[in-house]
Amino acid sequence: MIRKSLIIANWKMKLSPREAFSLTRSIVPYIRVAAGARSRNSFVICPSFESLSCVGMLLKKTPIALGAQDCFWEQSGAYTGEVSPTALKESGCSYVLVGHSERRLYCSESDSMIAKKMAAACETPRLQPILCIGESLAIRKKGTYRSYIQKQLEAGIALIPRTKRVQFCVAYEPLWAISTMGIGLPIGPEHCAEVTTWIKTLLSQKLPGAHVRIIYGGSVDSENVMPFLQRGVSDGVLIGGASLTVRSFKKILTVLNQ
Ligand code: PGA
Repeated sequence: MIRKSLIIANWKMKLSPREAFSLTRSIVPYIRVAAGARSRNSFVICPSFESLSCVGMLLKKTPIALGAQDCFWEQSGAYTGEVSPTALKESGCSYVLVGHSERRLYCSESDSMIAKKMAAACETPRLQPILCIGESLAIRKKGTYRSYIQKQLEAGIALIPRTKRVQFCVAYEPLWAISTMGIGLPIGPEHCAEVTTWIKTLLSQKLPGAHVRIIYGGSVDSENVMPFLQRGVSDGVLIGGASLTVRSFKKILTVLNQ
């Protein structure tokens, strides 16, 4: 079986439903080609909640999966404004981002909230959570990034039973590499490989029954995407800014097709 890299577009809160619909309609034909039967890549689009239905409609009968940017930790109840993993699944999502650094920063999401979200998403059949972790520039400079990431990772998976055969992704996104947060410079592939290999080792000890893909995110674009997809570096990429226009998204697809 070919090992497929996961290419995930995170549209954040950047597009209105009308804009998300229009971008999806323009880009789907190109992604369809890039995701053809012999492709080495599979694709996921994560629009904001209000655009899930219109984007999902366009993705039906395509090989492109739909993802959400967040979920709640309960499946139903009196939680005004929240969206359950089951509701996301029913709305056509196969993936959901959990604990993105912007949610940790602007919505005060704590490690314990993220642990509950991860557990709830993992319990939802055919919904894969993508646990986002990554250190700040200050922590990187201090040299303590490994212990910081380990703490985030262990907290995020704390409520998943050790023996459970779950499937999920971990997105390693150093905060300072995210285009809108830090200095907006991607890390080098060697650094990425060092961290992803180490995350894999930790996970094989903590959750030996789990099937986990480790992807990279932070200022990925057409110029730098390929080295991140090499075997041993990462199992895919999470792309924010560069997935927001037809032009920049198409450029990435062109590079992936070469
Ligand atoms: P970026 O965003 O590609 O614009 O850096 C990535 C992310 O925040 O997931």
